Amino acid sequence: MADIILGIESSCDDTSAAVLRDGVLLSNVIAGQEVHRRYGGVVPELASRDHQRNIVPVVSDALAQAGIGPADLSAIAFTRGPGLLGSLLVGTSFAKALGLSLGIPIVMVNHLQGHLLASFIREPEKPVREPSFPYLCLLVSGGNSQIVRVDDPLHYEILGQTIDDAVGEAFDKCAKLLGLGYPGGPAIDRLAAEGDPSRFHFTKPRIPGLDYSFSGIKTSLLYLLRDETAHDPQFADRNKADLCASFQQALIDILLGKLVRAAKETGIREVAIGGGVSANSGLRARIEEEGRRRGWNAYLPERKFTTDNAAMIAVAGWFHYKNGERTPFDIAPVSRMADF
Ligand code: KG4
Repeated sequence: MADIILGIESSCDDTSAAVLRDGVLLSNVIAGQEVHRRYGGVVPELASRDHQRNIVPVVSDALAQAGIGPADLSAIAFTRGPGLLGSLLVGTSFAKALGLSLGIPIVMVNHLQGHLLASFIREPEKPVREPSFPYLCLLVSGGNSQIVRVDDPLHYEILGQTIDDAVGEAFDKCAKLLGLGYPGGPAIDRLAAEGDPSRFHFTKPRIPGLDYSFSGIKTSLLYLLRDETAHDPQFADRNKADLCASFQQALIDILLGKLVRAAKETGIREVAIGGGVSANSGLRARIEEEGRRRGWNAYLPERKFTTDNAAMIAVAGWFHYKNGERTPFDIAPVSRMADF
């Protein structure tokens, strides 16, 4: 009998459900939340309410698009954390209620593991190209910046991570300072393509080992804008594209510097990326370029699988399910990685 997994993701501001049959994705429905735009960032209370509104239609759509009825499901995989607690409660409670009513198991998934395994999302009639183990994954999102060694689908080790802000926060902060709205990453990505990346220079952090820091570079941009705007109030507006290109380039240099070091230290040449920031065109081009130069096999998940989605949760859940893991129904979500 086929393993049919329903994946549910609700860790931040996207409500998503996906159906996976024996590892092949049949549907992946995502409802984003526009309500946060006007606040310039995700408002947790509003996010929970939108998840509550969206979860039933999103799951129904995912099942309908997959041509699957609830009775066909083998198990439900859901994001237990890390993320916003109120948001996680909606997906977790829904998974528990549906699992209990159908009499099928639930399987908890760490959201970050979903991003790590995004390269394993198989779509019907598309060529399969997956990293072999062990591989390095550059996990870059609004909440994380890590280099992770993935030893097999269920075991991984964080080799380095940010000691302060995530790289996605640096993108979002830059966009805010330039008045580009939220989330800022996609807007910076677009403008950077038209700008000169060598025009402005930002101080790079000196952090030992494979750890990252992105708080200093944000301040560096803030001071540049403050100093230049003092004698040219139109400075930011007139130089938007060059500022975006230079700032993005600096972030990519920091990310790649440590990734290259991790590849050298571990001797691993299988390199994947995951998380919202891995949608960035500049970062993707640079990983491919470094890959060609250094003999890496680079794996870039399709853009639709870089930001939060239930397809990656279903895939990670399927690996756990095949490993015989079942989650007790008294499970509660957790907001922090350390509690997982
Ligand atoms: O993984 P994600 O959807 O949510 C979590 O943080 O879990 O990542 C969101 C982050 C935001 O900071 C957003 O600005 C960034 O990913 N992002 C991008 C791009 N698309 C999304 N950053 C740079 N370039 C992009 N194209």
